Amino acid sequence: MIVTFDALAARQWTERVGSTRRIAFVPTMGALHEGHLSLVRRARELADDVVVSVFVNPTQFAPTEDLARYPKPIEADLAALRQEGVAMVFNPSAETIYPSGFSTYVEPPKVAAPLDGVIRPGHFRGVCTVVLKLFQIVPASIAVFGQKDFQQSLVVKAMVRDLNIPISIVIAETVRETDGLAMSSRNRYLSAAERARALCLSRSLREARVSFDSGERSVAAIEAAMLHELRIGEADGVDSVDYAVVADGESLERLEEIGDSAVALVAARIGTTRLIDNVILCGDC
Ligand code: PAJ
Repeated sequence: MIVTFDALAARQWTERVGSTRRIAFVPTMGALHEGHLSLVRRARELADDVVVSVFVNPTQFAPTEDLARYPKPIEADLAALRQEGVAMVFNPSAETIYPSGFSTYVEPPKVAAPLDGVIRPGHFRGVCTVVLKLFQIVPASIAVFGQKDFQQSLVVKAMVRDLNIPISIVIAETVRETDGLAMSSRNRYLSAAERARALCLSRSLREARVSFDSGERSVAAIEAAMLHELRIGEADGVDSVDYAVVADGESLERLEEIGDSAVALVAARIGTTRLIDNVILCGDC
């Protein structure tokens, strides 16, 4: 496995190998868990060689967010990627991606405006900018993203379409712990007691699913059921909720009645940790 910090070396390797082999790319911020590794495995099924980037992107964190404490277990990450048979890892420094004088940013698509676009201003501008840069440095034919970050997956798909980026975006299912908690690098911030309370997120989504499956089509009713399961402010609940909504699965616009395509999304805080999760209720979004 080649590990490089150098953008030119990463690009030259991808161009050379990619001229005869199909390359799939998995961008990550490291602190890898089974969710990330499932994307790597999906990428391996789709291509001859897999490239992974490990870069904690400062421009997608607001000044008040967890950039400074974001875990960086690079040796463990590299060992896991070696085990998965990854061909190349791109692990740049912040200066490589954002050298002094850097000043060009991507204006995110419309689907970046609601939900995390409201709660985390500037987040998707940082995501779009770094993802576009990574696609330039690693010109693969396929890139795999996780449904776990549902809005991010829609934002990346829209950017690729709008800017004619020659890469196919594949979205892979969310990997969960056996009790339902969606895997996340941020789960390692949770104490044992907080970890137990974090189950409220997947429970609220399961409630949305059950309600939908039993024929409920009113968004207000499903959202009320979700909020109930989140147990805001209770000893066994979350501390606060950023959103718990049912939205259109393509535009993320608010719905009143569920039609062809809908997704339930939740973002909640437990202590100082913010967690997100979602479930697709219907449609091929
Ligand atoms: P990160 O949070 O490290 O996630 C990298 C990829 O792993 C994303 O596509 C994310 O959706 C996926 N992922 C995370 N948890 C998952 C789970 N439980 N199951 C399946 N996939 C999961 O998302 C980012 O990094 C960054 O925003 C990035 C795209 C790398 C740009 O900086």
